[in-house]
Amino acid sequence: MAREFDVAVIGGGPGGYMAAERAAEGGLSAVVIEEKAMGGTCLNEGCVPTKTLLYSAKLYRHASESEAFGVHAEAVSFDHARVMKRKAKVVKTLVAGVEYTMKNLSVPIIRERGVIRGRQDGRFLIGAGDEEILCSKLILAAGSETAIPPLPGIKEGLESGFVVTSREILQSETLPQELVVIGGGVIGLEMACYYASVGSHVTVIEMLPKIAGTTDKEICDLLMKEYKKRGMVFKLGCRVLEITGHSVLFEEAGEQREIACDRVLLSVGRAPATGGLGLENLGIEMNRRAIAVNEYLETSVPGVYAVGDCNGKLMLAHTAYREAEAAVHHILGIDDPVRYETVPAVIYTDPEVASVGETKESAESKGLSVREIKLPLRFSGRYLAETERGEGFLKLVVEEGTRKVLGCHIIGPYASEIIVSAVMMIDLELTAGRMERIVFPHPTVGEVLREAVFRI
Ligand code: NAI
Repeated sequence: MAREFDVAVIGGGPGGYMAAERAAEGGLSAVVIEEKAMGGTCLNEGCVPTKTLLYSAKLYRHASESEAFGVHAEAVSFDHARVMKRKAKVVKTLVAGVEYTMKNLSVPIIRERGVIRGRQDGRFLIGAGDEEILCSKLILAAGSETAIPPLPGIKEGLESGFVVTSREILQSETLPQELVVIGGGVIGLEMACYYASVGSHVTVIEMLPKIAGTTDKEICDLLMKEYKKRGMVFKLGCRVLEITGHSVLFEEAGEQREIACDRVLLSVGRAPATGGLGLENLGIEMNRRAIAVNEYLETSVPGVYAVGDCNGKLMLAHTAYREAEAAVHHILGIDDPVRYETVPAVIYTDPEVASVGETKESAESKGLSVREIKLPLRFSGRYLAETERGEGFLKLVVEEGTRKVLGCHIIGPYASEIIVSAVMMIDLELTAGRMERIVFPHPTVGEVLREAVFRI
């Protein structure tokens, strides 16, 4: 006998658990079907474990460089295995927190793989192990998986453990001596930052002429400069040709080169995890591997929604949260589309990088006439108090004529926290005059944003 719910959610990551949470809060009966641990990639093998590691790396670096601040720390050493144990504890606590929230809201978790079987009595029929679920609305939140490019030697490398993805590297208790990172995007840079900070020699091979995708070019240049100081090597505009049992072969300016290493991290993007979900049983339209959705996250089948990485829009946990809310609101009859243009992005490297909205380049490519207001973070007393020789800066991208702030880009400490103020300014479409009247606490690094506002 099938169990009946208003809403069934397939996937227990940020998109899935938030959808179930908001549905239950909205008075709907909900169920989550998750075959692995609750929390998905974000909690178990992505955002949270990475940030735990990066915080230890930052502490280590600060301790090693504390002399200038009048702190003598002798024989500072780093215990990667201990860091990994702490990471496991943090993950366990957060996963338990999500499970507790579900229990508190009377949302059952079915620990099986959910597969769409079709329709029955005007509802959707889902199989989950031996169980069957009937639901009026279905929210797909199946996440994503590492993209594996068809490179010679990659399959063998993954099998032997010489090549790893973010999942395996976040489980490894040993530090590689020589790490090659293929792909200078967000995952590659965050992991490269950790390993280079704690003693590994790291080379990043990126096929484009710059790291960090569409991130502001000046910020990328400063990030690379900081990394190079820590011994990291960048091979930009280079194509990987082959992975052997002990090295990576790549092409640099028409020449074939080889780097011997003891581990290779593959971080060339992620792809929606949509295989084996039974999407074809409802005839759900796809956009290559991604589930096609409209502005309310509804698929081509009315009543079926897709939120988070599986719709391939913006693969960020905080986007998944917001999409989950928008989907549930649509179910509840509330008009609440997601504004993707004000979703912030953060690279949790040290220094941190945070951005929202347009860069000068992206704005100009849309035919907009903009100017940049760039201020060094040294304008902040707190930045000077806490940073030695820091070159961090903040940029506002402002539309000429209208004086509207279209983007904000920051590199430096607290960037990930400061960006929220800029998101609000842009999302609420505050005028320069209105922004000037907002009081920032002093001394904070965020005050630089206030200072920039006076130059609009
Ligand atoms: P990405 O798309 O950010 O970067 C992949 C990079 O690999 C690109 O720069 C691309 O040019 C390069 N690349 C592709 N094929 C290559 C090849 N054969 N050789 C050399 N370079 C190659 O993807 P990434 O870093 O794997 O992250 C995946 C997803 O996870 C992203 O959507 C990202 O937003 C998300 N994520 C977000 C984080 C955050 O918000 N802090 C942290 C980690 C991941």
